[in-house]
Amino acid sequence: MSTALTPEMHRRAAGRDLRVVFDEPTIALRVRELGREITAAYPDGDLLVLGLLKGSFIFLSDLVREINRPLHVDFLVASSYGAEKVSSGNVRLLYDPETPLEGKHILLVEDIIDSGRTMVRLTKLLRERQPASLAICALLDKHLLPEPLPEMRWTGFTAPPAFLVGYGLDHAEDHRHLPFIGDLI
Ligand code: IMP
Ligand code: MG
Repeated sequence: MSTALTPEMHRRAAGRDLRVVFDEPTIALRVRELGREITAAYPDGDLLVLGLLKGSFIFLSDLVREINRPLHVDFLVASSYGAEKVSSGNVRLLYDPETPLEGKHILLVEDIIDSGRTMVRLTKLLRERQPASLAICALLDKHLLPEPLPEMRWTGFTAPPAFLVGYGLDHAEDHRHLPFIGDLI
């Protein structure tokens, strides 16, 4: 599929060379499909779409516009486990959704599942809030977990073993604004 931007425009937006992995039309098509599937999957009940900041902000904003049913949007900010070497099973929320989660269908939206540790911890924490259901929609998944999480319901794309940026994903906070997903080269 052709890209909407030329390679020169990609370079200028990023400020450096990168290889386009998923271009804008490819992402838009997949997000539309996900929106259709999510619409069909929740026939009734309160749906709360919970975006994990910051990485999910662009994906979530496109995704909710493709979901054709009533829903609420909120966000989560989780503490980084950056320096930790082992999984503690705990994750601290720096921003907790204002809406109660009990009895609601929660759709957790994430940019990329890498080791899966973030999602393992978050799903554990969110389950304690007794939602009616809990499902994950991740734009990208590196499929590194030995077994997929039971909550993992929708994946946009399988991510190649590379460090990806753009469409919300960052490298040291750069490149989140790129409208495509690229690999820094
Ligand atoms: P996990 O806990 O190892 O699954 O890491 C997930 C988090 O790491 C994501 O929310 C991203 O913030 C970050 N991450 C992992 N891989 C990438 C990548 O290729 N590009 C940008 N961020 C990534
Ligand atoms: Mg992230």
